[in-house]
Amino acid sequence: MKFRVLIAVCAVFAVAAMTGASGQAVAAESSADMFGCMHEGTKVGKTYIRHTDPAKLEEAVQIFEGNLEDREYPVGTVLQLVPIEAMVKHEKSAYPDSNGWEYLLFDLSSGVTKIAARGVTAANPLGTCQSCHEGAASFDYVCSKDHGCPPIPVTDEQIIGMQGTDPRCEAN
Ligand code: HEC
Repeated sequence: MKFRVLIAVCAVFAVAAMTGASGQAVAAESSADMFGCMHEGTKVGKTYIRHTDPAKLEEAVQIFEGNLEDREYPVGTVLQLVPIEAMVKHEKSAYPDSNGWEYLLFDLSSGVTKIAARGVTAANPLGTCQSCHEGAASFDYVCSKDHGCPPIPVTDEQIIGMQGTDPRCEAN
């Protein structure tokens, strides 16, 4: 009998841990099926921004477009610059070192999204995502052009070229 009560209490805590302050379920990890053709987002400059809630998407676009400092992107925001990488915003407690941002590196060799690495240890050949993006801590870890991150050695044209090769887009 006591055992059953214990199980019930644990279940309540587990549900509480999976829900955010709003009471809505907040997954602490993104799943591969969240990422299709990267061009599906709203494009601001070269960066694609997504959110399932239109009001929160608008808020994220405003923060990005206005280069607003000391503002936090809404939980659920997805940012993508190149097909093999993404940043997804969660509650801060999920990824405390990056104010809730989950960095993701994909393996797209099969034509669909496979998650190759995630979180503060995720890296591309230039280093960990965090090692550069932490330079933009006052811009909620979003680098853009001049938010304090070390520059990447690729031109805007090369980035646009990479965007055009996303194997998940029908045109490719
Ligand atoms: C050498 C430094 C460096 C590394 C390493 C790096 N980034 Fe970035 N990242 C940048 C810079 C600089 C920009 C802005 C480029 C621009 O807008 O021209 C950027 C832009 C982005 C953007 C668009 C939003 C923004 O912050 O402007 C995403 C998403 C992103 N990077 C994800 C990642 C992920 C995921 C990783 C790791 C797998 C990673 N980056 C590794 C420097 C880096």
